[in-house]
Order: sequence, then structure tokens, then C-alpha cells
Amino acid sequence: MKQTQVEPAEGKLGIMIVGCGAVATTFMTGVLMARRGLAKPIGSMTQYDKMRVGRGDAKQYLHYSDIVPLAQLSDIVFGTWDVYPQNAYQAARYAEVLRPDDIDPVRDELEQIVPMPAAFDKNYAKRLDGTNVKGEGGDMPTRWQMVEMIRQDIRRFKAEKGCQRIVVLWAASTEIYVPVYEPVHGTLEALEKAMQADDRVHVAPSMCYAYAALKEGAPFIMGAPNTTVDIPAIWQLAEQTRMPIAGKDFKTGQTLVKSGFAPIISTRCLGLNGWFSTNILGNRDGLVLDEPANFHTKEVSKLSTLETILRPEEQPDLYGHGNADDTQYYHKVRINYYPPRNDNKESWDNIDVFGWMGYPMQIKINFLCRDSILAAPVCLDLCLLTDLAARAGRHGIQRFLSFFLKSPMHDYTQGELPVNHLYQQYTMLKNAIRQMGGYEPDEEID
Ligand SMILES: NC(=O)c1ccc[n+]([C@@H]2O[C@H](COP(=O)([O-])OP(=O)(O)OC[C@H]3O[C@@H](n4cnc5c(N)ncnc54)[C@H](O)[C@@H]3O)[C@@H](O)[C@H]2O)c1
Repeated sequence: MKQTQVEPAEGKLGIMIVGCGAVATTFMTGVLMARRGLAKPIGSMTQYDKMRVGRGDAKQYLHYSDIVPLAQLSDIVFGTWDVYPQNAYQAARYAEVLRPDDIDPVRDELEQIVPMPAAFDKNYAKRLDGTNVKGEGGDMPTRWQMVEMIRQDIRRFKAEKGCQRIVVLWAASTEIYVPVYEPVHGTLEALEKAMQADDRVHVAPSMCYAYAALKEGAPFIMGAPNTTVDIPAIWQLAEQTRMPIAGKDFKTGQTLVKSGFAPIISTRCLGLNGWFSTNILGNRDGLVLDEPANFHTKEVSKLSTLETILRPEEQPDLYGHGNADDTQYYHKVRINYYPPRNDNKESWDNIDVFGWMGYPMQIKINFLCRDSILAAPVCLDLCLLTDLAARAGRHGIQRFLSFFLKSPMHDYTQGELPVNHLYQQYTMLKNAIRQMGGYEPDEEID
């Protein structure tokens, strides 16, 4: 390994997960099984991918961990919060993502992961009725008390488990849509005042987790489409505490395909009139998303994927027709709750493209995926790479992690555009790793 400025990955890494549902338990079980040699962490870039560093005669293809110091799977200690009190073993069995045979060998370890009471506000996820929540006798704490309680949880967990470093990952339900509201979200001072005033409309519980994590010197990752860390107030806090943040919304099934497929259309200068995406999903995530206010948060995130890949303002002939006012292609995303499928989501994409002289064609994609199976390696990579970023002194929005995210964060106050194109995102990821590994970033074809 080259000489770098990155601090070594010494000691235990505590991964504290908000939500102990399908994604979280699939992630935790997979890590515990993999480190016993009982399963393979398939789909994880940090565990499998090899990338080029150096050029010409100095060219080498290395695993990420041979380029930068990454935490080992054996260094990870898990903690969690949830609205439901079931331990991680019970929650993994309930989720029915993994077969009992793939959970039982690590049952002892999973049973010890017991959710701490959640900082929860039912108005943000009406379909959930668990009682493992903070507050005495059903009295919801104020937002500021939530922050204090989460900070104590993090400190206690870190001390009890002997962790050197903590990463906090949101893998909890999608909250109702909280649009960016400048008077509260615009500055850190305004956000803190709103938390102290217990402003329940503009301060989502997820913001309390993010605020608490950063204050405790832990990076925060937003795996749902919530606005949470996508506001200037939190960017300021991340700068102040010199902590990385990443978000939002894990890029797993349909959107992974979309951000990989849309470049085919744009690269070949084909036209697009419409892209209709629909899904059936039957797990608790699907139940929460069946509530229109929660679905809207997801819809905004899923719709953003094509925005910077197929741009009507740059190519009006190709992407400037199809919607009601004929200004751009028509893009629609639906999610339907369908219990029989549980976590095995099925997505359909109908893509109306056109070619030479405007002649129409159609492309159909039917992905029968497993949501949490695709999300678990993304969780692992985001946690390990965010921990790396913190040790490398990188703070604020980590754009190099856009590769793993449906709606990558960017500084919209400065007119910065997100990068949604999967292959551009991959170049950003590799270049950040090269840089942190002491190599020059480059765009040479491998
Ligand atoms: N699976 C995927 O492919 C995928 C992709 C992108 C994003 N996501 C997002 O990841 C999240 C988790 O998905 P899942 O399938 O595991 O859902 P899930 O419903 O199985 O688990 C979420 C858990 O979060 C808990 N929770 C809700 N609010 C909480 C709070 N304030 N504090 C603590 N716990 C809370 C719920 O009780 C539930 O157990 C969802 O927001 C989902 O939209 C999933």
C-alpha cells in the first residue's frame, strides 16, 4: 500500500443502524455469516471489486482494501434502534428475507442485538404501531430531548462495546415528505432553534438522529429518501464537526437498472418519449410506502434518477416531448403494496424510445429482484467507505458515494447538479479511492 494521509482502521467499528427491519437484519446476518466463512458477501464492492491504480508499467489491479485502509468485517460491532422490541434474530425471522438455515448459525450473536427505543413520531409513519419508543407513558419527547437521548445511546454503546469509531446508518422506514423549508433548514442555528422549540412539522425524527450522530463524531448515512441530511443546516454541522455525510436512498433494484440503462439511450442519441416504472412489493417497507405521504418521499427520489442523464434543455429533439405540456419526456413511478410477494419485489419498466426520423420503439424490463439482498451489500460498502472518508479527513457531502444512492446529495444552493449516470458515478468512486490511497485520480480507460 502507498503512503497515505488516511488514519489506519484500528480497533472496532460500531455500526449503529436506525431500524431493525428487512434491510438491517439482512445486512447484519450476512456480515456475521461471512466473517465465520458461512456465506459470501456477494455484491459488495469493498469485498470484491478490483480497480486499476497507476499507469503504464506501474499499472496494477487491486482490491480496495489493498489501496486504502478499510475496516475488516471482523472489526464490526452492530447496534440498532427500532419501534418494535424484537431482537435482530426475531426481526430477521419476521422479515423472511433469508432462509432459517442462513440465520440460525449466528442466532446467538443476533439475539444480543436488541433495539434501543426509537426516537419516533407516529405522524411520520402512520402505519407503524410499535411501542419501543422513547418517552415515558406514551409522551413523545421534544425534538431536542430526542437529540439528547440519541447522543446518550451512542456514547453508551461506544463505551460498552469498546468501539474506536461509530457510523450511524438510517435503514428505517421512509418518513413522510418534508420539503426543504429555508427558515428552519437553511442554517444550523435555525435548525437548533426549531429543535429546541419542538417544531414537529419541519424537524423529522431522522434529523434528530443525524444531528446526534454528527455531534458525537460519527458519520451519518441516509438510506431512505428522507430529506434529513439534504439540508444546508446539516451540511454546516458536518463541516463544523468535520464529519462525512452520505445520502440519500439506497440504489438497489429498479433504480440501479435505470441509472445503468438510461446511459444507453443518451450515449446513442436515441429519443425518449416516456418511461413508466411500476413495482409490487409486500414487506413492511411496502406497507409504509402504501401511505401516500410516505410514497411521495420515495417518488421524488425515484423520479430524480433520469434528470441529469436525459436532459431536455440540452437535447430538445430527443427528450423534449411526451408529457402533458410537451416540454419533456413523461416519467412515472408507482409502487403497489402486494403482500404475497413480501421482500421479493417485482418491477416493470416500459420505455418508449424513438429512433431515426422519429420512428417509435419499446423496451420492456422486468426485474424480479430481492430488495434486501440488493440493499445489504450497499449498506456494507456505504458504512466502510464513510468510515474511511472520516479517517481521510473528508467531511460534508461525499459525492463519491453517489454510486450507491438513488438521489445523490449535491449542493443545490450553489446550482451544483447531481451525478446520476452509473458509469460516471463509478469513475468518481474509483478516483476518490485512488486519491485516498495516494494515487493520482484519472479517467484512463482500464
Ligand atoms: N430494500 C431496498 O432495496 C431499499 C432500497 C432503497 C431504500 N430502502 C429504504 O430502506 C429503509 C428500510 O427498508 P426495509 O425494507 O428494511 O423496511 P422495514 O420496514 O423492514 O424496516 C424499517 C424499520 O424501521 C423501523 N423504524 C421506523 N421509524 C423508525 C424510527 N424513527 N426509529 C427507529 N426505527 C424506526 C420500523 O419499525 C421498521 O422495523 C426504507 O426506508 C426503505 O425505503 C430500501
